[in-house]
Amino acid sequence: MPLLQLEGISKKFGQVVVGEEITFQLEQGDSVGIVGPNGAGKTSLFAMISGDIRPDSGDIFFEDMNLAHMTPSSRARAGIGRTYQVPRPFEHMTVFENALLAAQQGGRLRGKKSYAQAFAALDRTGLGEYANRPAGSLMLLHRKRLELARSLAMGPRVLLLDEIAGGLTDLEVNELTTIIRQLRTEGIAVVWIEHVVRALLSTVDRLLCLAAGVIVADGAPQEVLASEAVRAVYLGGKIINEVLPQ
Ligand SMILES: Nc1ncnc2c1ncn2[C@@H]1O[C@H](COP(=O)(O)OP(=O)(O)O)[C@@H](O)[C@H]1O
Ligand SMILES: [Mg+2]
Repeated sequence: MPLLQLEGISKKFGQVVVGEEITFQLEQGDSVGIVGPNGAGKTSLFAMISGDIRPDSGDIFFEDMNLAHMTPSSRARAGIGRTYQVPRPFEHMTVFENALLAAQQGGRLRGKKSYAQAFAALDRTGLGEYANRPAGSLMLLHRKRLELARSLAMGPRVLLLDEIAGGLTDLEVNELTTIIRQLRTEGIAVVWIEHVVRALLSTVDRLLCLAAGVIVADGAPQEVLASEAVRAVYLGGKIINEVLPQ
């Protein structure tokens, strides 16, 4: 049985198609990248998996659970972790309290175990020294790390990462990809939406390209990037030089 399975997911916002018959599945420890132009529906896809928005049709299964009637928090407790493209920590709480809340609510841990998991998540993401700062005082870069730390503190089995490498230096991107590669060795499946393609290429072994809500390519990263379908999506777009290898 796949870990996560999407079957014919479709969604429109008015006239805007953000999902059209999206079907794919993930196994434990898979590592999949998603590329696609702005407005393609990438973030909406995560929102449908995490339960923030409802598909118009189609089914999503997490192991044997049909997610249709599960709230976002029950999906998080079941093991679906997600970061947000625009970080949204509890600003008035400290970095540590944010991670602790994630460990207790999403991770369902109590007492010492929740503290240990929260600390471990901060440690892994290089936020240990920021533990006692109010989350609202962090710079964007550290806010992005806190997004990752919070989702890790929940002890996810699948982790949905939404553009967490944007704006980072090469060194920081390398640190991030090291963390993410390690997650899969622990059996965590990763789905990573990212425009920083070199970060994806060093991490994932499968790439999906989403355009206007349709998966136009799905396969080995280099083949997907070289495919006619993906070139057609990006051709004429200003990000072609950033996204596609020449
Ligand atoms: N909650 C919403 N209500 C209405 N329109 C939305 C909503 N969320 C996203 N959209 C629209 O859906 C399209 C796809 O958005 P999104 O999924 O964020 O794309 P991506 O992450 O690929 O850039 C955009 O045109 C966006 O404006
Ligand atoms: Mg997005």
